[in-house]
Amino acid sequence: MTETGFGIDVGGSGIKGARVDLTTGEFIGERIKIATPQPATPEAVAEVVAQILAEAEWDGPVGITLPSVVRGQIALSAANIDKSWIGTDVHELFARHLGEREIAVLNDADAAGIAEATFGDPAAREGAVILLTLGTGIGSAFLVDGTLFPNTELGHLVVDGVEAEHRASAAVKENEDLSWKKWSKQLNKVLQEYEKLFSPSLFIMGGGISRKHDKWMPLLELDTEVVPAQLRNRAGIVGAAMAVSKHLNP
Ligand code: BGC
Repeated sequence: MTETGFGIDVGGSGIKGARVDLTTGEFIGERIKIATPQPATPEAVAEVVAQILAEAEWDGPVGITLPSVVRGQIALSAANIDKSWIGTDVHELFARHLGEREIAVLNDADAAGIAEATFGDPAAREGAVILLTLGTGIGSAFLVDGTLFPNTELGHLVVDGVEAEHRASAAVKENEDLSWKKWSKQLNKVLQEYEKLFSPSLFIMGGGISRKHDKWMPLLELDTEVVPAQLRNRAGIVGAAMAVSKHLNP
């Protein structure tokens, strides 16, 4: 029997949702995407989430990612989303908009991490692994033999006076129109710092820019092995669906 779940990934530009086959990590049917409302306040985002579920005709449990620290189902940070998320009881918020159903809310990179550890490269579930998502910001997931240590926020580590995500996110490359060479040098600096602090056995690189890994991964000079994520932009949605089915409510 196929176990089906539903995951929603809240990002800075789009809110995306899909049914997920929890035995394979594949989507069932179409992914629905609606532009993130601006300003992306909690109420406005929750309305779009409700709209996606209505469109998908899904009334079962739902997992939702946010680009923020989520502890005890309270959002505690808002680096690239509306500041009014800080202190929001996300469980109460979504329960009010989505009705009676099981809901789990977690950090977007953490969702990607648990999805990769389950459905990605088998190396993702061995040893001390750091998964990074390179997008508007830098998200991080710490995995020890596939088990998540949540809310690590490595994108905000200050490296040589500058926050890591202001040095080496995909947005920095785009906004500053950096060459692969220049950008990978900045990323290398950030990864070297992570290496020094955490000595991981592997870095897994996710986010849209990992699709072009052949352009920049070979330019990195690190002691630690670096591999591209396997689930690409599916990871957030899949991880969200897994979180609610496994009752992971950080
Ligand atoms: C946020 C993280 C998030 C990451 C990726 C960072 O700015 O602080 O919570 O995981 O961006 O979206």
